[in-house]
Amino acid sequence: MSVLIAGATGLIGKAVTRKFQERNIEVHYLTTRKGKLKKEEGFKGFYWDPKNGEIDMQCFDGVTAVINLAGASISQRWTRANKKKIIRSRLDSLQTLRKALEKLETKSIESFVAASAIGIYPNSFDRYYTEDVTDVDPSFLGEVVSQWEEEINKFSKFPFSVAAIRIGLVLSSDGGALPAMVKPIKSYVGAAFGSGEQWQSWIHIDDLARQFLFVIDQDLKGIYNGVAPNPVTNTKLIREIAALLNRPLFLPNIPKGIMQLLLGDMSYLLFASQRVSSKKIEEEGFEFYHKNICNALKNILLTEEHSSDIYQKEFV
Ligand SMILES: NC(=O)c1ccc[n+]([C@@H]2O[C@H](COP(=O)([O-])OP(=O)(O)OC[C@H]3O[C@@H](n4cnc5c(N)ncnc54)[C@H](OP(=O)(O)O)[C@@H]3O)[C@@H](O)[C@H]2O)c1
Repeated sequence: MSVLIAGATGLIGKAVTRKFQERNIEVHYLTTRKGKLKKEEGFKGFYWDPKNGEIDMQCFDGVTAVINLAGASISQRWTRANKKKIIRSRLDSLQTLRKALEKLETKSIESFVAASAIGIYPNSFDRYYTEDVTDVDPSFLGEVVSQWEEEINKFSKFPFSVAAIRIGLVLSSDGGALPAMVKPIKSYVGAAFGSGEQWQSWIHIDDLARQFLFVIDQDLKGIYNGVAPNPVTNTKLIREIAALLNRPLFLPNIPKGIMQLLLGDMSYLLFASQRVSSKKIEEEGFEFYHKNICNALKNILLTEEHSSDIYQKEFV
């Protein structure tokens, strides 16, 4: 058995790959960068160019599950050109995979799991989001995710199981939002954003990677939120990081206007509030190893394995 991962070179893809490798399951991966192509025992790279619909069909050899994580980063200035790249990269990747799967003669694929994001849920301080909510946030973020999920829905015509994981704020020492939050706090200039009351539905990267495998193992279909059971406010998150790093927080919260000036419309990501439920996946039997923020942060920031990454690689 092998799995195919599109976007395996990214933050989440690397963590998911490690989980399969721990189980001795061969990983095939698709990359748009020829320099990232490797052919190692148990880890084989294949080139694709979703923009032009090109894919090396050998990537499907012996594959029973496909995971899609591909997409240009949302954390870049939301200029007109970047917005187009953010949307197109996601749609092109899914379309290229779908067309390739249509052509595939073998019927070995049993499941397809796609990344989605909680940014689809409307910005709100008081709503609590389960997967059956159909409202879409009226922002660029909401537009990206709803188009992404429309494209994922087109896979439902295949005979295999199709699932999407609406990923929350992924906490990892290797990249994403956490190192960017830690850095100013370590330098004594950390502060919450805006009112600090916005909900952050976070997930420890290890639990998220396990969730992808769980969805495949259990042959789940449909949408699942990829968030831990206890979302926190931005203030709580910043305070917990500061407490663990023994740093005081004395600056006032950073006003929206300043971040808008610095980052443009992309600053929306810092102030968006989504309190999201993990109940559906738990009811399927998934057990989170990191249920509360304090333990998750301790594990990432203070354990030997991770602290060497976060202190030496990123901040020293
Ligand atoms: N990290 C989070 O907190 C978070 C939260 C919600 C949703 N998500 C979503 O989850 C997915 C994976 O996230 P991540 O944090 O692992 O992202 P990441 O580190 O930026 O990795 C994204 C992957 O997408 C591929 N990619 C980049 N540009 C591409 C393009 N133009 N066309 C096709 N593929 C492209 C890259 O592979 P190559 O360069 O090798 O081709 C890379 O491996 C993303 O779609 C992201 O939007 C992440």
